[in-house]
Amino acid sequence: QAAEVDTRIRVAKAALGKRAVILGHHYQREEVYRHADFHGDSLQLSRAAAELDAEYIVFCGVHFMAEVADILSRPEQKSILPDLQAGCAMADMASIEQVERAWEELGTVLDPEAEITPVTYVNSSAEIKAFCGRHGGTVCTSSNARKILDWGFHQRPKAFFFPDQHLGRWSGHQLGIPLREMPVWDPALPLGGLSPEEIRQAKILLWKGHCSVHQMFQPIHIERWRAAHPQGKVIAHPEAAFEVCSMADAVGSTDFILKTVKAAESGSEWLVGTEINLVTRLAEEVRPEGKTVEFMSPMVCMCSTMFRIDPEQLALTLEELVAGRERNVIRVAEQTAVEARVALQRMLEQS
Ligand code: 13P
Ligand code: SF4
Repeated sequence: QAAEVDTRIRVAKAALGKRAVILGHHYQREEVYRHADFHGDSLQLSRAAAELDAEYIVFCGVHFMAEVADILSRPEQKSILPDLQAGCAMADMASIEQVERAWEELGTVLDPEAEITPVTYVNSSAEIKAFCGRHGGTVCTSSNARKILDWGFHQRPKAFFFPDQHLGRWSGHQLGIPLREMPVWDPALPLGGLSPEEIRQAKILLWKGHCSVHQMFQPIHIERWRAAHPQGKVIAHPEAAFEVCSMADAVGSTDFILKTVKAAESGSEWLVGTEINLVTRLAEEVRPEGKTVEFMSPMVCMCSTMFRIDPEQLALTLEELVAGRERNVIRVAEQTAVEARVALQRMLEQS
């Protein structure tokens, strides 16, 4: 059965030739990942989407990634998500209504247009990217967040970071900002649950969002592992909690994690804090060199929405294209796309 689906994907892909390109995020399961023409972290895949010529960009990733591909590609190109249920729970933690309301509320304390650069993690809806485009802000990914925030501070003295508080906090910390100047804005509370004084003193307002996959990693996991592997190295994704990132030997995007471990000396031992499909694949890849890679949590933390893209869905998507039918095309509304493109282009210029 698995071999049969694999063959169907290969046959359909060959029939489409250069008309379709498959992009695969590093969290994709192996049976899907192996069919991708390009692999990467979010920034690399955004760049690929902006530069490719194919008629169809088949995005094996999650919804916001396919939206970015649509926004950055040419109008005649189409971005396709093999399973429309493949969303990102973190991206859903900030709605455009909440963000607009927060901006308005901030206006009762200071002048946000003059004092705050809105920066959204790429894991957000196209509407929030458009909001950032409209208000002089931009987008960042896990690999350029620090640099982009720094850019933001050259525009205006404060930043509002959506929706991942952990990436925002870690990046702010890297820029030397004390934790007390990075309060969390809770959209469920009036004025985000902050006092006007806290807002005036803040350098970065952190939206109350997180990734439930990366939240599973705890300092105790690192402590226990280090006790058993005194020579071992710990590497984590910046969506992990601040305490975890602070204890790690290295912190970075999915691509950074892969490159760092692959480039390490043979025989080295690694504890990795990011999604399990990536970690399992990496462990297998480096085993022949005598390197060991272990997953940070005793629980299986998998991104269940990334996992929704299965070989069957990919086969079906490609076969439909061969038959002249387009399935699961992601189209961002024109005005939203124009404004989101402004924000994304600001990011691409900086990185
Ligand atoms: P990367 O940009 O590091 O690939 O991260 C994307 C993501 O969703 C991590 O959870
Ligand atoms: Fe979203 Fe977390 Fe999955 Fe990344 S791992 S796509 S942030 S839910």
